[in-house]
Amino acid sequence: MNRLRSHCLLLAVAAAAAAAQPVLTIDLAAPAKPISPELFGIFFEDLNYAADGGLYAELIQNRSFEYSATERSEWGPFSFWDLTKRGDGDGQLGLGDARPVHVNNPHYLLLTVLKPGDGVGVSNGGFDQIPLAAGEAYEASFWAYQAYMGRKWAGGPDQRKPMPVTIRLEDSDGAVLAEARVEVAGREWTNHRVTLTPARAATHARFVLLAHEPGALAIDMVSLFPRDTFQGRANGLRADLAQAIADLRPRFMRFPGGCLVHGPGIRHYYDWKDTVGPVEQRRAQRNLWGYHQTMGLGYFEYFQFCEDLGAVPVPVVTAGVCCQHAGDSPNRGQEGLPLEEMPAYIQDVLDLIEWANGPADSKWGAVRAAAGHPAPFGLKYLGVGNEDEISPAFEERFRMIHDAIQRKHPEIVVIGTSGPFPDGRDFVKGWEFARQMKAEMVDEHYYRPPQWFWDHLGRYDGYDRAGPKVYVGEYAAHDEGRRNTLRSALAEAAYLTSLERNGDIVALASYAPLLSRRGHTQWTPDLIYFTGTEVFPSLNYTVQKLFGEHRGDAYVPTTLEAGPTRLRLAASTVRDRRSGDLIVKIVNGDDTARAVQVRIAGGRALPATAQRILFGDAPADAANSDGDAPAVVPRTDTVPIAREFSYEAPAHSLTILRLPGR
Ligand code: AHR
Repeated sequence: MNRLRSHCLLLAVAAAAAAAQPVLTIDLAAPAKPISPELFGIFFEDLNYAADGGLYAELIQNRSFEYSATERSEWGPFSFWDLTKRGDGDGQLGLGDARPVHVNNPHYLLLTVLKPGDGVGVSNGGFDQIPLAAGEAYEASFWAYQAYMGRKWAGGPDQRKPMPVTIRLEDSDGAVLAEARVEVAGREWTNHRVTLTPARAATHARFVLLAHEPGALAIDMVSLFPRDTFQGRANGLRADLAQAIADLRPRFMRFPGGCLVHGPGIRHYYDWKDTVGPVEQRRAQRNLWGYHQTMGLGYFEYFQFCEDLGAVPVPVVTAGVCCQHAGDSPNRGQEGLPLEEMPAYIQDVLDLIEWANGPADSKWGAVRAAAGHPAPFGLKYLGVGNEDEISPAFEERFRMIHDAIQRKHPEIVVIGTSGPFPDGRDFVKGWEFARQMKAEMVDEHYYRPPQWFWDHLGRYDGYDRAGPKVYVGEYAAHDEGRRNTLRSALAEAAYLTSLERNGDIVALASYAPLLSRRGHTQWTPDLIYFTGTEVFPSLNYTVQKLFGEHRGDAYVPTTLEAGPTRLRLAASTVRDRRSGDLIVKIVNGDDTARAVQVRIAGGRALPATAQRILFGDAPADAANSDGDAPAVVPRTDTVPIAREFSYEAPAHSLTILRLPGR
């Protein structure tokens, strides 16, 4: 049946048939319109365990004993840790705070060994599991000092001797998969590192640290990383997840959110300065989404990841007001930083620009250089605010931040905000304010049913080209039950064709949210789901990936005349200057196949065939289920084309025709 369909691309002269069918005209003679080089990118926010327990490759959960009941009522400093006694060993755990490894990292474990037996210590099972691959190297590390020295226990060994410690990876049945020994000596915090290489794989391993003499250790920042992180970066990212993101070929990356930016109360915004420098010196924080952020994946790692992806960084900072809905805010509404604190806050924002772009010998450029990146990162966009209520408090603070950036860094494009919806009060006021401020770009957000996207394909056609550019910072088609369906993916595909057509005014666009760990999903739909070992891209992901792979830098005037009938049909044509290829996209969101009469006017001689990538051609409710083979995957073949031909777009499908330029 599919073979039959694939041959339904008819070379035709069928003028009579064309009269009844939609006509797609591609005018190669008319001037092409430049498309923003950064049009399609990604939105990253640490919700659904996207960072800790997600993209950040750390395998130990609660590595610095900073979990607390303020994050989750059932949590405390020893959550996810167990006191582990082997043989007839005995000991206890205590919480230290008198002499922390760093003031930003205030708590640590005090492990007291009363009777060593075969070892007394702690064990950790990670984020639901610690998966280990056979023969792969894992870097284990911890900070420690001897908390008690001297002859404290009568008859015990001399406590001035170093404390022998075993670091082990054990399988769920207790079998030792790899181990190493270190000695902790002295009263100063010292970092200990070993490499562990398990001989066999395990899905639910445990990390075990055992001390072997009576005495006590102060222990903090207990860490386990696969050596094989994305691009081999230290303190790096999970290779499989990062690769799935890289495969989207994003041209920019927004971080750290979303609502995470302005936080659950004015004292809890995301402060970039807490997220750079040595990891043991970063200040962990309660995540707005109700869990713990170590900040191990912080601004340095975000910028480095952008560089590894070839994507432009788009950090977003608070506009000096907190989220009007989240955390401490319900019933209190939006609150602004006291005005007398604004100069210091604005300085932090300016410092961020210096940290990203300043020379290595500038104050903040030196912090970046010390982390291993002397060259500037090339920051050019900075978002200020996220879905804020456009109130006098917001406007006053935004203006102060915006003007300070303009004065000191006119090269930076400040992105303003227009509320959480595609219309309504904050949207209208946000745009009015942006125009008044002469802002260069405005962030729009919308999560709407699939039909909304079909109904708004013309949204940007009438936007004022002399006004601010648009960043579609968060969007997703929310189907019934907020599921990732083919229906939603194709509505987004149709919308993306309209963004290509408007790529002169829409500068950036990012689907949201990006990641979700199974078992910790707080928001659906998302683009990529994962467990500790597997990655499950959604059908919406496939659409994003296809648009990333088949993007262009110029839009070729394309018109679709469908007659009086209301069809779910959309199309675009772009030119990729690097390859010279012409890329035609046709989306059919209807239940029936649709014959489209394609007419290509002007330009050079056309090739006789095009590469066709066909995605969909399946029920609208199709969805990729975890663990199953993908319900729908793109198929590629070669099809004949001509100046005029009839193309049958299958029901519920995205077709990409790639006409080679050379
Ligand atoms: O993407 C999830 C959330 O949706 C973001 O944090 C927020 O900006 C939006 O409301």
